[in-house]
Amino acid sequence: MIYLDNAATSWPKPPGVAEAMLNCLEEKGANPGRSGHRMSLAAGKVVDAARASIARLFNIPDRDRVIFTLNATDALNMALKGVLKPGDHVVTTSMEHNSVTRPLYGLRKIVSVTKVPCAPDGSLEAGEIEKAVRMNTRVIVVTHASNVTGTVMPVREIGALARQKGLIFIVDAAQSAGILDIDAQNMNIDLLAMPGHKGLMGPPGTGVLYVGERVDLRPFREGGTGSRSTEPDQPEVMPEKYESGTLNSVGIAGLGAGVEFVHGTGLKTLRRHELELTRRFIEGAGKIPGMILFGPGADEERAPVVSFRMEGKDTGAVGAALDKWYNIACRAGLHCAPDAHRTLGTLESKLVRFSFSYFNTAGEVDFALQCLRDINKRDLPPANGGCNC
Ligand SMILES: Cc1ncc(COP(=O)(O)O)c(C=O)c1O
Repeated sequence: MIYLDNAATSWPKPPGVAEAMLNCLEEKGANPGRSGHRMSLAAGKVVDAARASIARLFNIPDRDRVIFTLNATDALNMALKGVLKPGDHVVTTSMEHNSVTRPLYGLRKIVSVTKVPCAPDGSLEAGEIEKAVRMNTRVIVVTHASNVTGTVMPVREIGALARQKGLIFIVDAAQSAGILDIDAQNMNIDLLAMPGHKGLMGPPGTGVLYVGERVDLRPFREGGTGSRSTEPDQPEVMPEKYESGTLNSVGIAGLGAGVEFVHGTGLKTLRRHELELTRRFIEGAGKIPGMILFGPGADEERAPVVSFRMEGKDTGAVGAALDKWYNIACRAGLHCAPDAHRTLGTLESKLVRFSFSYFNTAGEVDFALQCLRDINKRDLPPANGGCNC
């Protein structure tokens, strides 16, 4: 299979991830941070090592502020619902994923939201965010890179603005963690939400929320932490304050190995390869008649995500043909980001998305281009599935 769906979850995982998970399950399978016996302590060490590795990647000074979550959605829910209070105003953008827009919609009876419109290529001027700030604005939340177009948002400028105005800055790094450089301190990020299973190359069911020192975040879930058990209140100590219940130590072991791979290979090397593939695809696809590409051009700053549609072809049918005829896994549909599709004008047509990883090759890109040329000349059977809305 040629796997071009890395923006959903990365595959394959680097060498070492499966081994780390198996080793954790078989050798260190006890409950981490609970019982005090040797196997429990060993499991705790695996979790702690992953925490330290993640802190190093994002220039987080205190590893205990790295909180393990289920995925990026879980981290964003913890951030938004833990910080917002009745009467607050939030500034966000028209390119957000449902993992930002739905929690905000869920809070609509107590908070007001301004969605700053982005340009038709998904780009955003930081100044537009500033114009939307009001007296009662408390939070700015933006995606670092769009999961539909790969557009990179001006996170550094927005962070500086947020700090200057005393606002809490939340970044959705679902498409940038392990892909773009992120320095939580220098970018003035207060809450950084990310999946463990995409660019960080860990297994599904892992995620992270960095909780900066300036934020007083209400815990999203309370319960057993293995510490201060007689106190009725959730302990204030980090990371337990936000990590009630048994952690996914096996998944975290895999995530730790994925992050070590990112460290070992180097973000620059990963990025160079991913960008080369993205550019190769954009340049090749631009020459296919009827191909309409969305987002920044080949030479612009971008994440390794490209969306397109083919004139006269049903998006779901293209996705299904790629899967069934050519064994190419991609994603076709609305990508859980209806606002982004409204911005691009593709809510009706939907889009096919290719997303590349370090493990894809130039040969795979060329083969995918050949398949699209072929599809372009053929009549497609009506989509039966293939589209993910
Ligand atoms: C921009 C963006 N935010 C959030 C998410 C949610 O990530 P997760 O599946 O880890 O919850 C995604 C997933 O694709 C995404 O692309």
